[in-house]
Amino acid sequence: MALPINTVYNLDCIEGMEQIEPETVDLLLTDPPFGISFDKVGSQYNRKQKELGKLYTEVKEDYYEFTMQWLRAAWRVMKPTANGFIFSGWNHLNDILNSLSNIGFRLINHIIWKYQFGVFTKKRFVSSHYHILYFTKLPQKNDNLRTFNRILEYSSSPGKLYFEDVWIIKRDYQKGGEKTPTRLPLAVTDKCVRMGSKENDLVLEPFMGSGSVVLSCIHHNRRFIGFEISEPIYNIAKRRIAQTEQQLNGKSDNLDSWLSKNQK
Ligand SMILES: C[S@@+](CC[C@H](N)C(=O)[O-])C[C@H]1O[C@@H](n2cnc3c(N)ncnc32)[C@H](O)[C@@H]1O
Repeated sequence: MALPINTVYNLDCIEGMEQIEPETVDLLLTDPPFGISFDKVGSQYNRKQKELGKLYTEVKEDYYEFTMQWLRAAWRVMKPTANGFIFSGWNHLNDILNSLSNIGFRLINHIIWKYQFGVFTKKRFVSSHYHILYFTKLPQKNDNLRTFNRILEYSSSPGKLYFEDVWIIKRDYQKGGEKTPTRLPLAVTDKCVRMGSKENDLVLEPFMGSGSVVLSCIHHNRRFIGFEISEPIYNIAKRRIAQTEQQLNGKSDNLDSWLSKNQK
């Protein structure tokens, strides 16, 4: 039985992806675990955020093996025309790049997302960027079938061409409520969703965290499936989704009522 869509699951993504019909996903958009310990992260995270960071499930096995495993599962469910965006720090970038090419994906762009602060370091340069790999399942000869929407509504880096592969976008200052240390700003996830997929396309987010990708899908009329293995983090995502829906239509009281209307 196919997994209902427009739904988020508190599930290991490998297990979850096995339940998705093959070749149904239009866009893979995800921010996998970093493969670093939150005990070691720097001073830009306050103590409470670090505690939340510990609720994230980290990679215990070899990072390359882990990446091969979940990317193979993703390949099976992606349409032959599907695109993908993967976020990565520098630590395991080589594992992700190697896995992509070994599985058969084709890299289109290597984007640098520059944010406003980095992890404090004493004996090396402060890291204040993230890598975003934009890739496709399509072979070069069919590249004309690839979705790439040239959206010109706003510029994230004033004075810069919108289509440059360096994105200067601030991380959100999370006021009040539950703060999660690796939350992606919607300005970044919106851009990937809008440029890499069409309305009503199905977006897969295997490592949902606090749910920014899913919120972008709701804002921009994309269908979605999200997985998050850690229950406390999953609950944060559910609350953010319910709040977004409430703000958007002022009707849903909670996620369950919204889901009952929107699940297909
Ligand atoms: C870098 S965080 C994602 C943060 C997210 N982009 C956000 O905006 O909050 C990676 C997430 O993947 C989750 N995770 C780790 N292993 C997983 C697995 N096998 N299946 C599903 N989720 C997993 C972690 O618990 C963590 O919440």
